[in-house]
Amino acid sequence: MKVAIPKERQPGETRVAGSPDLVKKLVGQGFEVIVEKGAGAAAMFTDAAYKDAGATLAKDAESTLASADVVLKIQRPIIEGGENELALMKRGAVLIAHIGALYHPDDVAAYAAAGITAFAMELMPRISRAQSMDILSSQTNLAGYKAVLDAAAEYGSAFPMMMTAAGTIAPAKVFIMGAGVAGLQAIATAKRMGAVVTATDVRPATREQVQSLGGKFLTIDAEMEKDAETAGGYAKAMPPEYMEKQKQVVAEHIKKQNIVITTALIPGRPAPVLVTEDMVKTMLPGSVIIDLAVEAGGNCPLSQPGKVVVKHGVKIVGHTNVPGRLPTDASTLFAKNILNFITPHIKKETQTIDFDWDDETVKGTLVTRDGQVVNPLLTAKEK
Ligand code: NAI
Repeated sequence: MKVAIPKERQPGETRVAGSPDLVKKLVGQGFEVIVEKGAGAAAMFTDAAYKDAGATLAKDAESTLASADVVLKIQRPIIEGGENELALMKRGAVLIAHIGALYHPDDVAAYAAAGITAFAMELMPRISRAQSMDILSSQTNLAGYKAVLDAAAEYGSAFPMMMTAAGTIAPAKVFIMGAGVAGLQAIATAKRMGAVVTATDVRPATREQVQSLGGKFLTIDAEMEKDAETAGGYAKAMPPEYMEKQKQVVAEHIKKQNIVITTALIPGRPAPVLVTEDMVKTMLPGSVIIDLAVEAGGNCPLSQPGKVVVKHGVKIVGHTNVPGRLPTDASTLFAKNILNFITPHIKKETQTIDFDWDDETVKGTLVTRDGQVVNPLLTAKEK
């Protein structure tokens, strides 16, 4: 079986879906691995490292994809407005990537029409067994860390308290909104850097997690939060009464904060607005907001994708693809997630991947098969 690792072509993508380590493991299992020349360059993986790991190097997308049985990608293939990556893949090929299936149903329909068996890794069910396959976790964990570093870089003061001969510097006050994977890592990072950290979330389970990392939890409404979590571990969209109350509590708190990092997401929906323009107006001059939800519409309406803007004296940072700002680690972990996903389905005797279609991780992530869109999350949306 041939596994392809093409160069990512979406603008600004620095990651690659397969590390030399992944190549070595797949070659060890008897697969032929084709890596496009330069695919790992931005992630600091050289062509020589892939070659040493046993890969065959291909000169362009076409020669990488044409004969591949399995295609590993970070981003969904480009279909329009550039090279048509999908058209280069053969019918019957398996695609494993962060497809963003709930946000791009037309692309998913195009995979079905092209006869591709596609797995949307972001739909991995949140069960313990699947933790090691969870690309959202591995990538957003890095994003949470990087968000704090980005905030520190934009902030005109120090994070830790410093008692110097010239006087004492007060510690930075950091407020994290959304204490999921990214938020918890941001709390841990900001604490390590000496900041005073507070955090809030709608899911009640996060209170203890925040506290265990040394953060102070800001409760909005304990009663309404009782029902805030889906069976899958995600947040539900909260009712307008809750959002109103959250606005009041946050408005008071945010006035005294130096750094605000927002990470709140609702799967398949636009991100909730948590920091309004009126709140920004009350913030201390020189404060920094990092909006990690900017690509899902933003938790702050003033954030702009890919830009750092200054509004009402506050720097609002809207970097996109934040995991891609740590491309080596992000690629290594993404590749590891893929390996953990496919390993149980590798048949040693035949050196093939023979998916168990009843496996929960397969059923959860599979979006197209045999020319059809098959994932209930997508087919239910169509109805
Ligand atoms: P996410 O990226 O969808 O959302 C980020 C955070 O924003 C969540 O904590 C969510 O509760 C919060 N949020 C949403 N709306 C909000 C609002 N209006 N106000 C304040 N906060 C709001 O979620 P993430 O970080 O991917 O994970 C959520 C949970 O899933 C975590 O507890 C994590 O431990 C768990 N998880 C489990 C896995 C497994 O068992 N395989 C894998 C990955 C995560």
